[in-house]
Amino acid sequence: MSNITVDLPQDSYAIAIAPDSLKQLGSQMKELNLGNKVLVISSPEIFSYYGESCLNSLQDAGFEAYTHLIPAGESHKTLESIQRVYDTAQANHLERSSTFVALGGGVIGDMTGFSAATWLRGVNFVQVPTTLLAIVDASVGGKTGVNHPQGKNLIGAFYQPKLVAIDPNLLKTLPLREFRAGMAEVIKYGVIWDQDLFTKLEHCDRLDSLDDVGDELLEIIITRSCQAKAEVVSQDEKEAGLRAILNYGHTIGHAIESLTHYQQFVHGEAVAIGMVAAGKIAVAMGLWTQEEADRQDALIAKAGLPTEIPPELALEAILETIKSDKKVTAGKVRFILPMAIGKVIITDQVTPEIITKALTL
Ligand code: GLY
Repeated sequence: MSNITVDLPQDSYAIAIAPDSLKQLGSQMKELNLGNKVLVISSPEIFSYYGESCLNSLQDAGFEAYTHLIPAGESHKTLESIQRVYDTAQANHLERSSTFVALGGGVIGDMTGFSAATWLRGVNFVQVPTTLLAIVDASVGGKTGVNHPQGKNLIGAFYQPKLVAIDPNLLKTLPLREFRAGMAEVIKYGVIWDQDLFTKLEHCDRLDSLDDVGDELLEIIITRSCQAKAEVVSQDEKEAGLRAILNYGHTIGHAIESLTHYQQFVHGEAVAIGMVAAGKIAVAMGLWTQEEADRQDALIAKAGLPTEIPPELALEAILETIKSDKKVTAGKVRFILPMAIGKVIITDQVTPEIITKALTL
């Protein structure tokens, strides 16, 4: 059992990590004074596994609990889905003092957070993440939102949860591909922030399934990743500077996702390819050693993740797509590049010529 604090100027909150803790969700929330009514937002599949346990825990603690289900998948991450959440909240008279609970992966977490940020100008919000990616990344830090037809997450708000309640046992139902996708973000923390985590991952013979990782390393992976995210978010809640390092691997990763119409790769896989590409750029610029880049790439491959840009994607198309990324500032593309394992820089000095040289070597 570990507790990590996301330390913020206003409304700091805890990330509570403990196996089998879904049963304690109600009592954990009761201590935080989160009103009497709770709206649990989930997807049908996740709710079929964990809904009953979640509702029992809330009801045993004295909460009046309601449920709203949203079909799984990115295609439902829309304002129309949010409208239906509001309809359920209205029908059940959810009040200012009430709490929305996200029981699911990143899409459910982002939508629940956005609904909570906007319903009655803001109600309490609790994250109960059920995927590795949501546990180590999406559930912490308060980025909430939905997609616009023109792009992912273009509509949203920074809105912090009151609690992130992590029960690693919920990962037992996670499909293998989703587990590996989450490992991409874990490796990311090793490269950008936590050299010791990186080394621990290197020392594990196999990383490509939950069983191979085992309970002990899983707890370390979750705790260290959440610690890294909490430290970064505590220093830069609204991404004025430092927080951008969390986007390591995402510049080229997003371009790959977009060019393959979000059909070929899940997010973590695209980030894995993006990290390998960013490593090559860092080496080509003389910022990083080939030896450390090779260690990163070996770890990504060991987690069963892709490392190569699909050959059918033209480099010109990737360069064009990068230019339209929402993180472009004043026309300059921002890259996060490693200088050592555990240390990265944010730079807008990466030219198309450098990218071309690095990725065609
Ligand atoms: N997933 C990147 C961030 O939370 O800032």
